[in-house]
Amino acid sequence: MEVNVLSTEPESGVPGDEFKEKFKKNHDITFYRRQRDKAVSQYFASLETLLLTDRGASLELCERDSQNRLSLQIRATQNGTVRVSIDELQPVKQRYHVSDVLVGEMTYEPLRVHWKREDCVCLTWGLGQYQLLVSFLPFKLEISCDGEEIVTLNPENKLYFETLQDPTRSSSNSCQGDENQCGLLKETFRQFEDIKANGPSSVGMDLSLHGFNHTYGLPEHADTLVLKDTSVSEAYRLYNLDVFGYDINSRLGLYGSVPVLIAHKPERTAGVFWLNASETLVDVKYNSEPNENEDEPPGKKSKIAPQTDVRWISESGTIDCFILLGPTAAQVFSQYAQLTGYQALPPLFSLGYHQCRWNYEDEADVKAVDAGFDSHSIPYDVMWLDIEHTNGKRYFTWDSKLFPNPAELQRHLQKKNRKLVVISDPHIKIDPDWSFYCEAKDGGHFVKNREGAVYEGTCWPGESNYLDFSSSKTRSWYARQFSLSKYEGSTESLFVWNDMNEPSVFNGPEQTMPKDAVHFGGWEHRELHNLYGFYQHMATFEGLLTRSGGTERPFILSRSFFAGSQRLGAIWTGDNVATWEYLKISIPMLLSLSLTGIQFCGADVGGFVQDPDPELLVRWYQAGALQPFFRGHSAKVTKRREPWLFGVEVTSAIRSAVQDRYCLLPYWYTLFHQAHVSALPPIRPLWVEFPSDSSTFAVENQYMIGSALLVCPVTDPGVTEVRVLLPGSDELWYDTNTAEVHKGARTLDLPVTLNTVPVFQRGGTVVPRRAGCGSSTADLQQHPITLTVALDTKGNADGVVYLDDGHSFSYRDQKQFCLCRFSMRVGRLVSSCADDKGSFVSDDKVESVVILGLNSLKRKPKLKSGAARTPVMFEFDVKRGPLSFVSPYNGGTRAQPSPNTHCSSANGSSPKRRL
Ligand code: NOJ
Repeated sequence: MEVNVLSTEPESGVPGDEFKEKFKKNHDITFYRRQRDKAVSQYFASLETLLLTDRGASLELCERDSQNRLSLQIRATQNGTVRVSIDELQPVKQRYHVSDVLVGEMTYEPLRVHWKREDCVCLTWGLGQYQLLVSFLPFKLEISCDGEEIVTLNPENKLYFETLQDPTRSSSNSCQGDENQCGLLKETFRQFEDIKANGPSSVGMDLSLHGFNHTYGLPEHADTLVLKDTSVSEAYRLYNLDVFGYDINSRLGLYGSVPVLIAHKPERTAGVFWLNASETLVDVKYNSEPNENEDEPPGKKSKIAPQTDVRWISESGTIDCFILLGPTAAQVFSQYAQLTGYQALPPLFSLGYHQCRWNYEDEADVKAVDAGFDSHSIPYDVMWLDIEHTNGKRYFTWDSKLFPNPAELQRHLQKKNRKLVVISDPHIKIDPDWSFYCEAKDGGHFVKNREGAVYEGTCWPGESNYLDFSSSKTRSWYARQFSLSKYEGSTESLFVWNDMNEPSVFNGPEQTMPKDAVHFGGWEHRELHNLYGFYQHMATFEGLLTRSGGTERPFILSRSFFAGSQRLGAIWTGDNVATWEYLKISIPMLLSLSLTGIQFCGADVGGFVQDPDPELLVRWYQAGALQPFFRGHSAKVTKRREPWLFGVEVTSAIRSAVQDRYCLLPYWYTLFHQAHVSALPPIRPLWVEFPSDSSTFAVENQYMIGSALLVCPVTDPGVTEVRVLLPGSDELWYDTNTAEVHKGARTLDLPVTLNTVPVFQRGGTVVPRRAGCGSSTADLQQHPITLTVALDTKGNADGVVYLDDGHSFSYRDQKQFCLCRFSMRVGRLVSSCADDKGSFVSDDKVESVVILGLNSLKRKPKLKSGAARTPVMFEFDVKRGPLSFVSPYNGGTRAQPSPNTHCSSANGSSPKRRL
């Protein structure tokens, strides 16, 4: 017998107030209130306790009134990261420390005493450019660079640390006799009771970022790119929750959390990473408004030095705070990636288009949709199956009526080089007749409740137990379920989607797991709530990796995430709604994720909830094609919306957006390679590329794809014109639709039709594309590369293209990759090897080159290879501008220098092919 789905999620339509009331607001969060309402604390340090080792400094802190004693550790790395860790000096029991997020042990520098006084000591390290001033009474920590203050920790004495209680002796802990109100030992929200095994355990600290008045990050929130001042609104809540049809312009918690804040000013970018996996709230206050009183004479305006105050408040755990000192944005990204890992290099197919729906009904439906893409000449790579493909929401199984032959279905897709993704959620249907369930139960792989029994909650299958992915034993067990022999009906072309992994519990508090549930090692769920989805993602990654014997790159989409999830695959922004506002907000949401390391991210194209009108659908495809993860998805009771169902005009506009995405994949793939090795996000806010141009700091409707393309997706209905900011007074911008050139440092009113996708190539760059796209990414290889060389004001341009086999780890293990540079100088375009460690040989050719920005043509272009010079076919149209030419050389010149020519360093030479 099937249990009816017990979801309180409406299956369509935007949720009403009753649904929203499930979730806490700031005033319902007792630990946050306790800290906000408390007068300042008085921590002091004493010089006698300062201990310097070759890995940093340690110091004891003591609170004047309570006599709480804490241990402080300060460590610094050579690359500009300072780590400040605070724990109880003598806890009654160990506090939770986040493991598995940091990648390996950092190398810390010895700290030296630069100078000291009775009330403070100044430490330094490395070349001595950075100083750390430790003030003792009250305790403060100030980090500066060559005399310029960057950040002060505990400037307002808000360091807060509730020491763990022995539950048997907790009566001393009452809060004027009203425990519930203060939430010390027990608290109730709606009908849910939370019993705190260790009593109150919250931690918090404030810090000031000097000279900064723009901050970013702290995903996931459906809000503006620039963080808001929360002194007049809700704090940023980091607590992973399943919020169907979430509100926009809100700082309430969503599916994932990355506790990273990035601050930017013209001369410096800095970051703060607060490594804590419990519920966390962050308050931001800008103290920076210069006095704009126009009555004051110029030069007399009283200027307050800009400063942003940030206060972090977590429910439990310890303080482990990393200050990333930059000074450039690229350095902040790399400092953070050295801590939590770089973006996984996605298999090429996963950068193509994905077609999803809750649900594709049966095998015939999947095949028909697959065929529909071919008959409408729309490329795509992956079909997705949602929960209905299973036998009664038992993951790892198939509905035998609807999907009787899943392996054959996968082979059918695989023949066209296409893949299948299936869903695998963390809740497991309680079914003693199901061997998977029994194995999990017998193996002790489920989370427990506070009484020590297996925790039960409801989700899609009805009564369910939840796998405890925080245990490495459970992760390995789960990973083994993906082996081809265990997972019946699976083949190597099946990939995975982890959903509902906040975790979503329909009958739980705030639709998630109670905080007093218990994980492996006796840890309360409250300690690691924000890590739950990360751990499932990690286990699934391990599963797909092991399935291929460690040779193939996994692809897994996860809804929930934490810092470090970038190492494991892609994420998306959950259950958005098919309205223009949600299309618009997808851009700042994805930029915030990208800035904080989660770079393979996307939003459901078309909007998950409700039905988009055709214009919105087209605009969403156009925008989605310019975002890293590109998947159309729709909820169960929405109308079908395959791209060909709305008439030829719509089909044609969608086809052209998807085809353009495919043609641009050499560029996207090269950007993902850069993200993988240097942490630069493939999509970036304008300010990352124009760090000293303050007009870019708050722009969130436009962004850069790499450093070459500026995009401004149309996100409003019925528009005939969009306003585009083209930054940089020394820049030239080429409209990729018309080749028209515009000078930078201006706004442009660009006329648009339904088919226009505003994309501008920056002068000084070379963008690789494929000359055609075929029906999937596998077909791309058959199309030669074309280069668009956009000249800067000096007539120069540079770019790279990265190539490898697109699916395995041989780029890493056998150096089977090729990085090829193209540079245009004084009328010559030269290709050369940009990394001579790479030994990948491909048949890829550069067939044609388009040069934007040539005003005249003095000589006919020639291709030079070795001593030979060959004329090339070309077209030059002074009115249209671009010079484009096609190489006659075997249909094109090889983009990939063979190891014996360009890439070999055996004879020390790197022959160049000149055009
Ligand atoms: C919630 C997910 O966000 C959505 O994408 C999915 O279709 C449903 N769960 C059903 O699995």
